[in-house]
Amino acid sequence: MENMKRDPVPATPEVANLDTEMRGAPMGDDSVSDVPASVLRNAPTHVPTPAPTPEKASTQVPDVGAKAKPALPLFALLDVEKSYPVENGKRHLKALDGVRMTLHDGESLALVGESGSGKSTLVRVMLGLETATNGRVLYGAYELAQMDAEARRKHAREVAYIYQDARGSLNPRMDVGALLAEPIRLHRLRDEREIPARVHELLAQVGLPAETYHFFPSELSGGQVRRVAVARALACEPRVIVADESVAGLDVSVQAQLLNLLRDLQRDSGIAMVFVTHDLGVAAYLCERVAVMYLGRIVEQGRTSEILTDPRHPYTHGLMQSFPRFNMPLSTPLSGEIPSPIDLPPGCRFQSRCPRAQDACTQTDPALVRDGNREAACLFPIRAEL
Ligand SMILES: Nc1ncnc2c1ncn2[C@@H]1O[C@H](COP(=O)(O)OP(=O)(O)OP(=O)(O)O)[C@@H](O)[C@H]1O
Ligand code: SF4
Ligand SMILES: [Mg+2]
Repeated sequence: MENMKRDPVPATPEVANLDTEMRGAPMGDDSVSDVPASVLRNAPTHVPTPAPTPEKASTQVPDVGAKAKPALPLFALLDVEKSYPVENGKRHLKALDGVRMTLHDGESLALVGESGSGKSTLVRVMLGLETATNGRVLYGAYELAQMDAEARRKHAREVAYIYQDARGSLNPRMDVGALLAEPIRLHRLRDEREIPARVHELLAQVGLPAETYHFFPSELSGGQVRRVAVARALACEPRVIVADESVAGLDVSVQAQLLNLLRDLQRDSGIAMVFVTHDLGVAAYLCERVAVMYLGRIVEQGRTSEILTDPRHPYTHGLMQSFPRFNMPLSTPLSGEIPSPIDLPPGCRFQSRCPRAQDACTQTDPALVRDGNREAACLFPIRAEL
């Protein structure tokens, strides 16, 4: 195996300013070279990797739930926007509209929200599959849109993605052994002769029997396919795994097995995880932090244990009421019209569905406001009765 070389982050005073408690952290190994462009995500073309300018870096980075963690965040998203042209380019749809969040090494973050809230778009921006229209996406000390080829390779290995359509993401003509060997070979993480043993190690790690090595995707069950997808992500030796609805559509028992696997992996390996889900139960089980999205914005974020037991934002509260729970009275679906994302009303975007809405909500678009370890974007947040 090649020697792992760890370079210091080109941390500048500006980057350090992102959070007064943050300091430069190593960015991982640089050993990958000559990766075929086709296998890298379609990140932007080469631009040098300047750190942010002092003026720009004045943007405050939220560090909800991360106060005690001194390292530079793995990801910092600063007022990120992503617009898509619609109606033949006459109008624009803001799939992301001023998203601010951070993710630190080893953290698990659930992105929750109804369909169309921007969860997948946010994930695609973090993966470099989409470029933000405005705002800044920092991966460690690097601006994602300005990374050079080497930094892009490093990002592509360190940020592993588990596709929603796990079966569709696997080449049906390759057996599991070849599917797992591919990223190891690609990123030059092991000598050729060490690869079979590493593949067996990965199979064991995700709870698949050794004979799975010779199976093709068509011979695997839905749960087994997802385990192979998890093993392929682990094969990259990532710092963060991003999973978009990875357990959706599975039998409850298989879903539970997979959730246990992901939770154990996250706890044992210290890999950070971003988990997109519609399911608040999954978020609560798997992730220490949660970000609730509504129409392109994060409207509430913080520790899952606090947010889901004591929501401040009426949308989070409504989501929880609409979530079916075993042995509980029937859930109440969120009522009211969802505004069109290309024609948002002035003021708060949740006003048409909010039982707490007042006149001010039609005029002022609430910003995310810090309250202890958490943040909520609401002019009249819910307060627990004393
Ligand atoms: N390529 C695109 N062109 C135009 N609009 C898009 C595009 N991709 C996403 N959108 C719109 O952006 C918004 C956010 O979409 P996104 O897929 O991120 O939502 P989501 O939260 O992942 O939803 P779901 O839970 O259904 O997967 C939606 O209104 C969607 O229609
Ligand atoms: S700002 Fe007003 S409309 Fe928006 S969530 Fe808060 S109370 Fe409801
Ligand atoms: Mg989605």
